[in-house]
Amino acid sequence: ALSSFTIIAQNTPTKLSNTYLEKVIKDNSSYLNQGKVADYIPELAKANSQAISVCVLGPKGVIYKAGDYKEKFTVQSISKLIALMIAVEDWGEEKVFERVGYYGTSLAFNEFAHLETMPTPLNPMMNAGALVTTAMIKGEGDEGYQRILERIRYITNNNTIKINQAVYLSEKETGHRNRGMFHLLKNKELIDKDEEALNNYFKQCSIEIDTEDLAKIAYFFANECTRFDGDNKYKNSSISELLLSQMLTAGMYDYSGAYSRKIGIPSKSGVGGGIIAADPKTGYGIAVFSPALDSHGNSLIGSKILEDLSNKLGISLF
Ligand code: DON
Repeated sequence: ALSSFTIIAQNTPTKLSNTYLEKVIKDNSSYLNQGKVADYIPELAKANSQAISVCVLGPKGVIYKAGDYKEKFTVQSISKLIALMIAVEDWGEEKVFERVGYYGTSLAFNEFAHLETMPTPLNPMMNAGALVTTAMIKGEGDEGYQRILERIRYITNNNTIKINQAVYLSEKETGHRNRGMFHLLKNKELIDKDEEALNNYFKQCSIEIDTEDLAKIAYFFANECTRFDGDNKYKNSSISELLLSQMLTAGMYDYSGAYSRKIGIPSKSGVGGGIIAADPKTGYGIAVFSPALDSHGNSLIGSKILEDLSNKLGISLF
């Protein structure tokens, strides 16, 4: 691990630069019209379908960024990592994984038919599994959500991060599929809380962020849960190993296997158009944003940009 870090670090000044990232964006922008902005949550359909940004955060605070990196969007499923982290802190990994599986998946992120044939959701990255982990976070009412928000504010060292209320209300109003799953999971006694916990899931998905702060989350997971400025209040290599393994096996849903082969960096997507990629070998955290999605619900250009960065910079596990 150390030798590849050194190689990257030596190459950084020549290979990685804002100009280089701008070129990667330009090289991939022709794919824009192949993707589609999510509209099953009506408020998400308002996103700027042309936006593209990338931010790379390396060890010692090295940071590169290009494109629309100031644009804000909702974290959506990227929040599932934070929910899993806090549920494991509260209960321990064993207890949490009595209620969710370690399986990869060939299924879409919002699939629920497997709940009839399997004892638990397949993994905590799909919606069903995330509903369970969010509901396991200790606390009454909206405390589970507040703890997720506080953790994201800590990781980014940015106390201005807040919910996008319109996105939250939009999903709360139209999220019948998640609501159905939530009650099926209650029926299976995998969720003990009432619908407040479902609202917490909708709220965590609606937390708004920009690409630079998202890269800080990627950095945190790439570095054993140490913050970009070196603060190590939550340092925990066991939890980061768990999260990275989940990202690699299920973070991109049914695209995870092909994605691992092509890109080889533990990653997590959200339907808002963000993807984080965390490379524990080099300690690099990368965030990309482009709301036009592929058929798996992952940012189409986001994956393409990460493929370029993985191939050209050697930021990859394999
Ligand atoms: O529950 C949902 O459907 C959304 N709030 C989150 C789904 C999501 O981000 C899938 N990832 N790409």
